Amino acid sequence: MKALALALLIPAASCLAASPSPAPVPVAADAPNTAAAAMPPRSAAKVVLISAPGSSVKGDLTLNNEGTAVSIRGVITGLEPGKEHGFHVHEVGQCSPPDFKSAGEHFNPTKDPHGGPRSSSRHLGDIPNAKADENGRAVIDVSLKGVTLVDKDGAPNEILGKALVVHALPDDYQTQPSGGSGARIACGVIR
Ligand code: CU
Ligand code: ZN
Repeated sequence: MKALALALLIPAASCLAASPSPAPVPVAADAPNTAAAAMPPRSAAKVVLISAPGSSVKGDLTLNNEGTAVSIRGVITGLEPGKEHGFHVHEVGQCSPPDFKSAGEHFNPTKDPHGGPRSSSRHLGDIPNAKADENGRAVIDVSLKGVTLVDKDGAPNEILGKALVVHALPDDYQTQPSGGSGARIACGVIR
């Protein structure tokens, strides 16, 4: 990531210097990162969750493209001990406190009703509840089916640049349109 960001900054800097020379190939610096040259444009992403005022929920999550799904793995802390918390991909990658309403609704490009892991239909952004242990810590290890991080042709099911949101209450997997999971207590952009 850092290498890529730097590579993208370099051409901008040379523009400021009014140099008309062609920009260097921007992705070259990122190449030694992985072995495979034929990888999709992005196969992994990260989310750092920030908490709403009055909440101490934090989390670091890693997302990986895995076939027709994206895995989400990591740890969320500061949750209500022993409780389940609604957890979704939301449609706008913007986490503005205090209420994180800026993240919009659940990611739902297929225009399906809200649901859960056992529903016949669901929003593509509907993730099973995050389950906190007695210390308020949830280990996340889920496979979110039907989405991809980024597609080389651009696809409606891409979640790179969207937001992950954690809620105060459990998602009941039924109530429309958002599962009745209450306030948004943490939010992070998928990047
Ligand atoms: Cu949500
Ligand atoms: Zn939903």
